[in-house]
Amino acid sequence: KIIILDFGSQTTQLIGRRVRELDTFCEIMPYNKFPKDDPSVIGVILSGSPYSVHDPEAFKVDLLQFVGRVPVLGICYGAQFISHTLGGKVEKADSREYGRANLETVDTTNPLFKGFEQHSQVWMSHGDTITSIPEGFEVIGSTKDVKNAAFWRDGVWAVQFHPEVFHTLQGTQLLKNFVVDICGSKQEWSAASFVDSTVAELKAQLGDDRVILGLSGGVDSSVAAVLLNKAIGNRLTCIFVDHGMLRKNEFNQVMDDYKVLGLNVIGVDASAKFFADLAGVTDPEQKRKIIGRDFVEVFNAEAKKITDAKWLAQGTIYPDRIESLNITGKVIKSHHNVGGLPKEMHLQLCEPLQWLFKDEVRRVGRQLGMPEHLITRHPFPGPGLAVRILGDITPEKVRILQDADDIYIRGLRDYKVKLSGEEARKVLAAGIPADMKDGEIEVSLYDQIWQAGAILLSTVRSVGVMGDERTYEHPVALRAVTSTDAMTADWAHLPYDFMAKVSNEIINKVRGVNRVCYDISSKPPATIEWE
Ligand code: XMP
Repeated sequence: KIIILDFGSQTTQLIGRRVRELDTFCEIMPYNKFPKDDPSVIGVILSGSPYSVHDPEAFKVDLLQFVGRVPVLGICYGAQFISHTLGGKVEKADSREYGRANLETVDTTNPLFKGFEQHSQVWMSHGDTITSIPEGFEVIGSTKDVKNAAFWRDGVWAVQFHPEVFHTLQGTQLLKNFVVDICGSKQEWSAASFVDSTVAELKAQLGDDRVILGLSGGVDSSVAAVLLNKAIGNRLTCIFVDHGMLRKNEFNQVMDDYKVLGLNVIGVDASAKFFADLAGVTDPEQKRKIIGRDFVEVFNAEAKKITDAKWLAQGTIYPDRIESLNITGKVIKSHHNVGGLPKEMHLQLCEPLQWLFKDEVRRVGRQLGMPEHLITRHPFPGPGLAVRILGDITPEKVRILQDADDIYIRGLRDYKVKLSGEEARKVLAAGIPADMKDGEIEVSLYDQIWQAGAILLSTVRSVGVMGDERTYEHPVALRAVTSTDAMTADWAHLPYDFMAKVSNEIINKVRGVNRVCYDISSKPPATIEWE
């Protein structure tokens, strides 16, 4: 495997994804936690960082742990750190260097730049610049403004630009050169090999034990359940709690899907309890806390009935676990706040997807033959529509929002767009099944979007007119974003004719709504959810 040491850059996860796209296993670790005694490490990548090497609090690592043992690639701060530590010079750049640049010279005989074109476009984002490289190193790439844009000596490579970002056009080639040619990855990671090895491991780990798993209807917990079902069959018991704030008909639809998949599922309708406990609560974090607490209570009451259970399985995926370098120390929103099970149950934790990124979970789901609508489902927050209703929550408000949301989501699924060229390739690469005809594919708006939903602005009222009558009702905001990991997101540029149709249908059919708005904020500075 490849180890990516995280110095706190925004793009560290992206490096991980790119390496995985090369069918190579990798782990992202905090900069100071290199696994010294792990013989399976074949290479190390040092990430970027918000710090300058001269900052007193800058993250430092002992390079001797891996330099000379396995190939090393430093990116941005990683490159500066290598230079600074081994005797080169890093200084404040006259002006910060951001954005597009071209490699005016590039040494294509160096294995890192195999297959590179002269003038290849790269992406820069740094405030410091490397003014001299350490002795024994040689420059292998320069841009107009950055002479030491890439340098190396045997076993150590350093690049000032970011190969992991889309705008470095041959970035994937560079990472492939490093991971495959230089580190010698055999590129053996695939969904099929993952399913085979994980099922075998689960069988060995779990033996004849009984396992409990909490299902949410989302792709992660569903894939985890199907994987476990394949390994231990009906010794897996799944619990699916309906807190009353799911989407319209979602509980029944998902229960039906699970039955078809042969899962042993207990469905619990606890909506009355949740509504009672949420009555009058308006603060978003308070809502989350109450839902988290109630969820644990309801789940535990069911789980306790399964007296011989030894394991609790969860659909935790890799981005949920990556030990983040919490630089600002601020909690922006408390996510995934479902507490633990009572200690007296003595359950051990089983997390079969803990090494996978979302797109890999989807590949595994397809490999397991799961229906496409389960696999391509948008992420949905644990507290459900409760964080999409501003102010307090009532069953009536949930009903209004469910109806509006249903019209919106069905519309996104029904509206087909034709794509060609790079756009089509991207959709196909994400594994979305679509047939190419005359160089074009047809996909729904839903499948092009990371996440979409309606928000009921129930603390706002506005005047409208319907027929001859004046109305004084609530607006609904529609949100749709594109993203790869929910860390950053852009609002989706939905077609006007689609918005016109959906807006009309919502206002005409959903009583209590007289206005529809579209949210055109990106994250950051906004977040995906409104609460
Ligand atoms: P934000 O709103 O922070 O959301 O941009 C990022 C992603 O997280 C989801 N989300 C949640 N998921 N419990 C969850 O399980 C929560 O409390 C929660 N809040 C937000 C959100 O839907 C998006 O995918």
